[in-house]
Order: sequence, then C-alpha cells, then structure tokens
Amino acid sequence: MKEQLEKIRQEALDALSKASDTNELDALRVRFLGKKGELTGVLKSMGKLSAEERPVMGQAANNVRAAIEEKLEEAKTALKAKALEAKLEAEAIDVTIPGDPVQLGHRHPMNKALDEAKDLFISMGFRVLDGPEVELADYNFTRLNIAENHPSRDRSDTFYITDDEKVLLRTQTSPMQIRAMDEIKKPPIRILAPGRVYRKDEVDATHSPMFHQIEGLVIDKGVTMADLKGTLETLIKAMYGEDSVIRFRPHHFPFTEPSCEVDVQCFKCRGAGCPTCKGEGWIELLGAGMVHPKVLENCDIDPEIYSGFAFGIGLERMAMRRFKISDMRMIFENDIRFLSQF
Ligand code: DAH
Repeated sequence: MKEQLEKIRQEALDALSKASDTNELDALRVRFLGKKGELTGVLKSMGKLSAEERPVMGQAANNVRAAIEEKLEEAKTALKAKALEAKLEAEAIDVTIPGDPVQLGHRHPMNKALDEAKDLFISMGFRVLDGPEVELADYNFTRLNIAENHPSRDRSDTFYITDDEKVLLRTQTSPMQIRAMDEIKKPPIRILAPGRVYRKDEVDATHSPMFHQIEGLVIDKGVTMADLKGTLETLIKAMYGEDSVIRFRPHHFPFTEPSCEVDVQCFKCRGAGCPTCKGEGWIELLGAGMVHPKVLENCDIDPEIYSGFAFGIGLERMAMRRFKISDMRMIFENDIRFLSQF
C-alpha cells in the first residue's frame, strides 16, 4: 500500500506540474482527490490493514493528500499569474509609437483682414454691430435717401425676397447705419458693421454675387471731414504700411454729402501704372462721406446739433490688397493649396 501511495503522489505531482489550464487542474483534482478518486480508493481499502498498520498508513495517506493539495494550489496560482502576464502582453500599448499628427488649420485670409480691421476700430472706441442679411428696402434704400427710381433698386441689380419689393437681400451694409441710429438713438455713435451683401453680379476676377463689406458710422457734435480723413488714414496705414499713399476723390452717394472715394497708390508700380491697377496708378478702396442731413432726420437725429461721417469698405478687396491675391474667386473656392499660403 505504501508503494501505491507513493505512486499516486508521483503521478499527481507530475501531472499537476504539466497542467496548462484550470480545467485540467480541476480534472486532476477529481482524479486524485475526488470521492471516486485514486487516493480515496486506497483509503477505502485500509479496512483490511492491521490495527498497528492503519494509523501509519492513514498518516502516509494524509501526507500524500496534503502534498497534492499544496501542489494544486501552487499550480493554480502559477496559471493565474501566467494568464495575467499573457493578457498584459496582448493589451500592451507602445507609448513610443509616434501619434497620428493632428492637422491644425488657420484663419481664412478674409477673417484675418477683418480681425485686423476690427481690432483697430475697437481700439478707437467703435462698437462692432451685427445685422440681418435679409433686410427691408426701407432700411437698405429709402431711409438712406436713395430715390424710388434709383437704378440700384432695379430687379436686375437687387435680389428681392418678396414680390412687392419690400424685403430683399441687402445690397450694402449701409442699412446698418439706420439700425445703429434706431438702436443707440442718442449720439455719440461709433459703430463698425461688417457682413455679407448681395448683388446680381456675374462671377469674375473682381465680382461675386455675394461679397462682404465693413460699414463704419460716427455721429457726434462737431464731427468733421478731418475726422473722417484721420480715421481712414489710420486704417489704411495699419493695413498697407506706414508708407502707403492715399488720395480722396470727390464722388456721389445719396446718403452722404459731401461724398468721396478713397484710393491707395498701387503697391506694385507705386503710381506709375501697371496691370494690377489697370494702368491707373491708384486702386479704389472704399466709399465715404459726411452723413447726409436727410439721413440723420430719417433717424430722428437733429442735423443742426449733430454731424457724422460714414464709410463702406469692400472686405474682399481689402484682403486681396493686403495679401496680394489677384483673383476674387480664389477667396471663395476653398482650395486648401491656395489657403494654406496665408
Ligand atoms: N454703401 C456703398 C456701396 O455699397 C459704400 C459706401 C459709400 C458706404 C459711402 C458709406 C459711405 O457708408 O458713406 O457702394
């Protein structure tokens, strides 16, 4: 019987050390220690032994059981550790692998030009106003002193929203002058109103049916043309450099009197005349003037007490000059090869 026990111990320890998963361990436990297991079988036959032999064998059998149980526990722990290690290895993250690069964009040249202008005017005490692109003809034309028969009101020039021609897509940001005066009511008024405007223009290198303007309006006591000149000179020098040369040319707008257009000397030929300035030597930048007394009256502001100036800048044109872009279509095409240059 002693040899039998020794054999069981050997076989069990051997098998346990070779087991490769917990199921196998379980099967071995049943095989050696279970109710019908090998060790139990031996114990059952102990009845045949003499009274002296029985405790000795009993002790030996217990030793074998203890040895097998210990080995079983050991094997279980080892398998668990092995499984954990395998899992860690399978799920390992290599933190040294370079990450996917994140493509960082940048501001559109139009936004850059607009932000520069906004910053400058804010520093001069202007408020930035936003207004509707779907506008009333009353604000876009009538209260701006634009006559009923003015050609800009024509259906061939203006996108009307309603058949009675009372609602339209604004053709200029100038209705924001009216909205500013209606809102603020009492001067001083100092506002900048950038935004989209719409006209029935064919697309070409310098035209688009949708484009952007920046409207400016200042009203206070004693505002003169000198203030207009100083303000616009500050803007143009900030945009195009201290050495830029500008000129004020008389013009006509229904909502200003007197009115002018402001040109900057061509940055390419310095006034000599070249294709960029179409041989003129000068490039037109904006329209401006002293707010017409009728416009002030239309907004319940007394022209005997207050005066003001207004200006309207084409933002595309400004960005094109600023970044030396020759074709307006490129601004709207969103070709990344073009945009990534700025
Ligand atoms: N609204 C004019 C246009 O679209 C530009 C303009 C001219 C705006 C003179 C003004 C101004 O405020 O005083 O052509």
